[in-house]
Amino acid sequence: MHTFGHPVALDELIKLCEELNLVLVEDAAESLGSYYKGKHTGSFGKVNAMSFNGNKIITTGGGGAVLTNDEKFADYAKHLTTTAKVPHKWDYVHDEIGYNYRMPNINAELGCAQLEKMPSFIRQKRNLTEKYMQIVSKTTGVQLFNEPVDCISNYWLQTLTLDDSHYRDEILAFLNDNGVMSRPIWTPMHKLRMYQNCPKADLSVTEQLNQSIINIPSTPVSEV
Ligand SMILES: Cc1ncc(COP(=O)(O)O)c(C=O)c1O
Repeated sequence: MHTFGHPVALDELIKLCEELNLVLVEDAAESLGSYYKGKHTGSFGKVNAMSFNGNKIITTGGGGAVLTNDEKFADYAKHLTTTAKVPHKWDYVHDEIGYNYRMPNINAELGCAQLEKMPSFIRQKRNLTEKYMQIVSKTTGVQLFNEPVDCISNYWLQTLTLDDSHYRDEILAFLNDNGVMSRPIWTPMHKLRMYQNCPKADLSVTEQLNQSIINIPSTPVSEV
């Protein structure tokens, strides 16, 4: 998963998958338009997910896409997402539990138009990062998250990391009280009520990041 649009350390993950005989599945929902060592995120895994939800880099109103280079897998995904109906001239038989996950044509058309605008959307996101960077670089106690080395990020969500996490809630309250909608990172899943009793590893890094990160407004005023 490429958090906030920043490509994850894919070389290391690929190596780990090879060592442990695991299949790499990429969740590139946040990282459309981001590149890892010159290759687009969402093109590394056996199967990859994209989101075109309203809050993403481009939108079709809702929905997303499954990406794969494996033809057999693509056919199977298509089968499952189109109700798993066995092709037949008149008979309706479904050979598995299927889903109606088709994207309506109208939404797909919106997506095509959005794709044309994507370079400009990403340019605006990156310009916004530069503006934030100018301010943050002169401020102590806080860093703006930068794209990893050898990567190009879409900067989907602008991210501040606080040196002292004790101030997080005070800063969030101040910003929101003053009309600057800012938010903490999503509550980690192991902290959610329904998953609290599930097995878990040591998640101290997650917990520490959860306490020290703030996402600040990330949608720039449109280019004319
Ligand atoms: C990493 C990640 N995966 C999946 C999703 C879900 O995407 P959708 O809203 O299209 O179901 C999101 C949505 O924010 C996301 O950030």
